[in-house]
Amino acid sequence: NSEDEQAEDYLFKIVLIGDSAVGKSNLLARFARDEFYPNSKSTIGVEFQTQKLNIDGKEIKAQIWDTAGQERFRAVTSAYYRGAVGALLVYDISRHQTFDSVGRWLNELHTHSDMNVITVLVGNKSDLKDAREVSPAEGKTLAEAQGLFFMETSALDSSNVAAAFQTVVKEIY
Ligand code: GTP
Ligand code: MG
Repeated sequence: NSEDEQAEDYLFKIVLIGDSAVGKSNLLARFARDEFYPNSKSTIGVEFQTQKLNIDGKEIKAQIWDTAGQERFRAVTSAYYRGAVGALLVYDISRHQTFDSVGRWLNELHTHSDMNVITVLVGNKSDLKDAREVSPAEGKTLAEAQGLFFMETSALDSSNVAAAFQTVVKEIY
């Protein structure tokens, strides 16, 4: 019916990517269900959740896909990226090594999807102030060089989580 067709018009696929344990699954849990898991296990395979967003008074559905950062737990990569129009590329501000992987994730994203995928570089775990290894300036500089949006988030204290997803959807729309 027409209602379904209208919903289809505004269904955007967004993928979460980044190293293991950076907090991809918790960003999704916080955004979609306002939940946080202090001891969450690594994702195995692929999960997705559909979440409604209101952008400029229009209802938009984002289908957000989450997979394992660990190679051995990942499902077929091309299927994961197929049809994606947005991406959240996540690193952990308390582990510089996860920031060093950003280039590799960008390569994978560009290999398997359209170059025009709207991408937000997300420095997660901003609550871990004493353990910080990546400065906001470092994140911002890389984002600018690669033409990405940039945001620091915390799935633990919720800061900027909705804003990160809203940024990507708003830019797609
Ligand atoms: P994979 O599924 O293995 O790729 O990992 P992931 O990126 O989905 O990470 P996950 O969401 O499972 O989180 C890993 C660990 O970091 C868990 O113990 C979370 O509780 C913790 N964590 C996630 N987000 C935050 C955050 O914003 N702040 C803090 N302090 N811890 C977080
Ligand atoms: Mg996960």
